[in-house]
Amino acid sequence: MGRAYDMALEVARALPPRANVLDVGCGNGFIAHHLSGMLGTTVVGLDVGDSTAARINYLPYDGRHFPLKDQSFDAVLLCYVLHHAQDAVLVLNEVSRVLRDGGVAIIYEDIPSLWWDRMVCWTHNRQWRGRTGPCTFRLEQGWRKTFTLAGFEIVSERALSRWRNLAHPVARRFYVIRSNQRTRDLTQTDNPALQQVADHAQAVRFPKWADRKYGLDVP
Ligand SMILES: C[S@@+](CC[C@H](N)C(=O)[O-])C[C@H]1O[C@@H](n2cnc3c(N)ncnc32)[C@H](O)[C@@H]1O
Repeated sequence: MGRAYDMALEVARALPPRANVLDVGCGNGFIAHHLSGMLGTTVVGLDVGDSTAARINYLPYDGRHFPLKDQSFDAVLLCYVLHHAQDAVLVLNEVSRVLRDGGVAIIYEDIPSLWWDRMVCWTHNRQWRGRTGPCTFRLEQGWRKTFTLAGFEIVSERALSRWRNLAHPVARRFYVIRSNQRTRDLTQTDNPALQQVADHAQAVRFPKWADRKYGLDVP
């Protein structure tokens, strides 16, 4: 079976049957498609593009506001999407808004741990920056800070093998996070300094020579 099927199976195992799921940055839509069949429910996909290859319930997204009602999903998926966001906290705020009480977000992220991982991330950034803007990769500590600043707590997390996708061999992590009202009350201010901390928390900066040589623009 393919990558999308395997990921859908992994996600389905972390969710209750018949959970209503939103797949943010659903790409070709095949994860959402397989997950719908596994959970016996409709999975809604959002992305900044016009359409998906798989036939799913798809909504185009402006990159800022999910065109969805408050508290309408049991779970939100972000599969290798948050590093594309120009403001990860803004996206997570929207995730929090559309999640029902007790709902969870499931997040897959590339982690630039070793020089090798950084090279893979650098290549990924080169492929995507012209389409959706520069990527911001974070280390484990950086994602923890970002989740906390967006008012989430980590329910579980684990490392995934970089060899699970031979075409994109990078260290990666799987997170299940839940909105934490208490953390939200403490952190959800309009304080721009806090936003900046979130945006730059442990964000990967490629070395100067790479910036100069390859014109990198990763914050
Ligand atoms: C690496 S692809 C992953 C696609 C899919 N989630 C998967 O795992 O197969 C990243 C996706 O994020 C989308 N994307 C980029 N910027 C985004 C944003 N600000 N909000 C939501 N999705 C975004 C891209 O259009 C692309 O489909």
